[in-house]
Amino acid sequence: EAKKGVIFDAVHPHKDALIKNKHQNEKLYQEDTEVVGFHDDTFYLDDEERLEKDDKEFSNGLQNIEKNASKKLPQALIIGVKKSGTKALLEFLRIHPDIRAPGAEVHFFDKFYSKGFKWYRRQMPSTLDGQITIEKTQSYFTTKDVPKRVRTMSKDVKLLVVVRDPVTRAISDYTQSSIKHKDLGRFEDLVFVDNTTGLVDTSWTPIKTGVYAKHLERWINYFPIENIHFVSGEELIRDPATELEMVQKFLGLKVVITNKHFYFNVSRGFPCLKKQEKHGRPHCLGVSKSRDYPFIKDKVIKRLRNFYKPFNRRFYQMTGRDFNWI
Ligand code: A3P
Repeated sequence: EAKKGVIFDAVHPHKDALIKNKHQNEKLYQEDTEVVGFHDDTFYLDDEERLEKDDKEFSNGLQNIEKNASKKLPQALIIGVKKSGTKALLEFLRIHPDIRAPGAEVHFFDKFYSKGFKWYRRQMPSTLDGQITIEKTQSYFTTKDVPKRVRTMSKDVKLLVVVRDPVTRAISDYTQSSIKHKDLGRFEDLVFVDNTTGLVDTSWTPIKTGVYAKHLERWINYFPIENIHFVSGEELIRDPATELEMVQKFLGLKVVITNKHFYFNVSRGFPCLKKQEKHGRPHCLGVSKSRDYPFIKDKVIKRLRNFYKPFNRRFYQMTGRDFNWI
């Protein structure tokens, strides 16, 4: 095989033409990406397989246009916060006829950004005119480079953030990790720098994630606060229809999702859908969305409440909403 390669390089009669062709292809692609309007130098321009796939996509795209449907980059994102009710929000929004979303978290802006915007668009479902594409990845809110990258995609994208009392959120986050990592240790032992001073370990992710004001500061360097809507995780459980009404209005949609879509499942302790989008039967979120927590001493909870107080206050000021955690 290696020998063949050498012979090809040395004597192939059309070698120069092939190379030129390849470069032209690349140039075409470069122009194409610029037409789309992105300035991302991480596109895979010279990947033959990708070019082929893109051609296929393009012709599929044409067929879709004939059917009046096409894949679009999201006009709205649910960017977090993990363990606050992001999945519930997306599942509830899916019943709106003008909302479409991919099945799983795409993690484009935090993990797969180098795959480029064309790849990202391919992960989206096809939509008709007037329908909104939404993507949810719960780690976007707290990942450093994400606001800048989202801004590269669009300055007008609408951002949704579900937030929950950071103390409960941290415990929920820890509980989830402790299921995966059996030797994680006790919450009480991980939350403080050391047990004698009672100094909260702000480098521990379950704690750091809940300092919402700090994360929000990064986003407002790139987006006006009016482009960001905050959903109360607590209210999403207590009164989902009212939270959903505000979200639909923020997205510029007709308010279609109302009280009549929900029932309260007493044994689960959560609101569920009377009819799910796909099969039309009653639907609650999976049990992984409502775990039991370990017992944590009152003293530890109090210490955490004090720690978060100033950050929560700042967050209320920034968002103009009192979330009732203090
Ligand atoms: P717990 O497991 O701590 O109860 P996310 O989807 O962002 O990871 O959030 C998971 C949390 O969503 C759950 O945390 C649960 O409290 C909350 N939640 C909100 N509304 C819910 C609903 N209707 N059904 C199930 N969980 C819901």
